[in-house]
Amino acid sequence: ALERTFSILKPDVVAKDAIGAIYARMEAAGLRIVAAKMLHLSQEQAAGFYAEHEGKPFYLPLIEFMTSGPIMVQVLEAENAVQRYRELLGATNPAEAAAGTLRHDFGTGMPPNGTHGSDSPESAAREIAYFFEDNEICPR
Ligand code: CMP
Repeated sequence: ALERTFSILKPDVVAKDAIGAIYARMEAAGLRIVAAKMLHLSQEQAAGFYAEHEGKPFYLPLIEFMTSGPIMVQVLEAENAVQRYRELLGATNPAEAAAGTLRHDFGTGMPPNGTHGSDSPESAAREIAYFFEDNEICPR
């Protein structure tokens, strides 16, 4: 079924001017960008988004990294979008991601793995609603 997923281009890839290169990969993979904006997250916004990781050893470095510079947030639409985008992303750790995946090609470590994607349709719905109003999403 036509599905939506949520994507973040993290501060590392925005800082190295890789937005266009990554958008081209998304579009070539059939993941249509139906919403997008640039944001510089506050501590509160980052903590709210990553609440499920609170208390983990990487939580504070993750929040520090995610608030270190602007990010791009996207809604991607396609048949089976969640799974398709996860295949394009590759493994969470760039060192373990297959060649040709976004995290292999644009990530440099952990937490700076370049990109985020929802892990399920339920996460996608929650994450999209965290950043976008309904009238900011433009399917076509
Ligand atoms: P993301 O897909 O956005 O989900 C949580 C993020 O936390 C992950 O990408 C990484 O940026 C970061 N992360 C997850 N596990 C670790 C870890 N073991 N060490 C450092 N950062 C991590």
